[in-house]
Amino acid sequence: MDRKFAVLGDIHANIDALEAVIEDARNQGVTDFISIGDVVGYNSAPSECIKRIRELGCVTVRGNHDHYCSYDESLDDFQPLAASVIDWTRRQLSVDDRKWLHDLPYFRLHCGLTLVHATLDMPEHWGYVFDLLAAESNFSYQNTPICFHGHTHVPMIYRRSHGIMRVEPCKIKAGFGEKLFVNVGSVGQPRDGDSRAAYVVYTAKTREIEFFRVPYDIETAMDRNRRAGLPERLATRLAQGR
Ligand SMILES: [Fe+2]
Repeated sequence: MDRKFAVLGDIHANIDALEAVIEDARNQGVTDFISIGDVVGYNSAPSECIKRIRELGCVTVRGNHDHYCSYDESLDDFQPLAASVIDWTRRQLSVDDRKWLHDLPYFRLHCGLTLVHATLDMPEHWGYVFDLLAAESNFSYQNTPICFHGHTHVPMIYRRSHGIMRVEPCKIKAGFGEKLFVNVGSVGQPRDGDSRAAYVVYTAKTREIEFFRVPYDIETAMDRNRRAGLPERLATRLAQGR
């Protein structure tokens, strides 16, 4: 059977967005699910999202929110908004949820693909890749033609052949001798001005990567956050896609 992978990033405890993406992926004939981390944080359904991801047999790596929600480290260096929601999330998770998050690796190789949440050069430092210099540092540690990542919540492609260039999301495949470092965008809290859930489909046979946006019930997700008592900004930003 031809394998087709849905690559999900930065789900961030948004179960409404996650269910919409799973349905869309299933309708496209996706056979396998991958997550590049940040399953939890920011939104109101962390345990539900962990349960769903585990049911899917989704191969997952550790995001910064997954890390801080599963360890009892001090949050003194965090922005108050991020610290408050990490503290809230810690209190929602079961012992088993926290163990599952705690055991996630920083990066992994899977079916010829590399997966990391932030960057391969220092994955535990959670650096943001917004420019060619940061992408170049990653490429020196990338030993497969394709590496999927997230963390910025902005879908983007960095392509290295003779030089490094940034390519807006499009249907693409790695050419001979090329490497692609692909940010899959965010399922649960997009920040590129488009409020629809973002994800990527990778078709193994053709080695093609394609970006998708999926509308979902944002009002319900916002209500869920409000009822949980989370800061209002975490509801409104879902509608703004920022
Ligand atoms: Fe994130």
